[in-house]
Amino acid sequence: MSNKASRTVISVAPAKINLILEIHGTDSEGYHNLSTVFQALDLSDELMVTLAEDTALELVDKVHSGFKVELDDNNLVIKAQRLLEQHCRRPLPCHIKLIKNIPAGGGLGGGSADAASMLAALNIIYDLKLDKAELLSLAARLGADVAFGLIGGTALGTGRGERLSALPTHLSDHKVVLVVPPRGLSTPKVYAEWDKLEDKLRHPAQGNAEKYCQLARRADSLGDALQACLSNDLQPAAFAMYPELKTLQRKMLEAGCSAALLCGSGSTMFGLLEPQFTAKQIAELIAELSPLGRVVVTSMRSSQI
Ligand code: C5P
Repeated sequence: MSNKASRTVISVAPAKINLILEIHGTDSEGYHNLSTVFQALDLSDELMVTLAEDTALELVDKVHSGFKVELDDNNLVIKAQRLLEQHCRRPLPCHIKLIKNIPAGGGLGGGSADAASMLAALNIIYDLKLDKAELLSLAARLGADVAFGLIGGTALGTGRGERLSALPTHLSDHKVVLVVPPRGLSTPKVYAEWDKLEDKLRHPAQGNAEKYCQLARRADSLGDALQACLSNDLQPAAFAMYPELKTLQRKMLEAGCSAALLCGSGSTMFGLLEPQFTAKQIAELIAELSPLGRVVVTSMRSSQI
């Protein structure tokens, strides 16, 4: 990750999907208690952090998705730096070049991954000697998904999603197709919509995280059984707010995806492609789905960070 000679650290910040997202009510602050299986993807932002006199954030937007990435103190990368400055009681000025490949506002966890990478990069470049537990607890204060950005691979997240235990990565022989629709969805609004849902619509994922973990910890290949667990309790809420997503899901299945599901709180949908899917079939699938959103074909990232 580091290049100490030039006092620059280059850090990769992978996107994530939630293979399963199960909600178990709310905590005292209104946050939703989750059992979620995070999966990192090969699609990543890149952060170049260089020691400097003053802090500056430069954005290289390679996606041009139209969703706004804040370049002020609301940016999670800057929030991560400020939090670390408070924690270490010293200024940590640096120049940050953030190369965005992950579409923002789509439930792919790009902002959270950037913040996690920033914590890790500053720890190296300033030789802060913070251990993983300290970094994880700082990450959890920045957002529910930030801690996963320090772990990567596949992991079960409980609590708000910040209590993590690593899982073996399965399904990594499958390609992942992402369809990013023209409109994003706000995470708090999707959770608020879930609060309003009728009880019978609220829990399509109930029990699946536990089932998935039991299956995933077995060594044999269980592709179909694992795929049968893929589910997201937020999906009915996101579909109620953005009905076109339901059509998108149907089209993804018709185009050959063996499963299609909402990413986190949306609005991106991900689909799985069986290993035997050929390059020609992938090209046809991209052509079919492109009118519905930006299509990215990637794969699961098995390595832990
Ligand atoms: O933690 P993060 O900033 O990503 O969360 C954004 C919003 O999503 C929270 O303010 C909360 O409204 C909602 N949320 C939730 N339960 C979670 C994660 C997020 O209610 N486990």
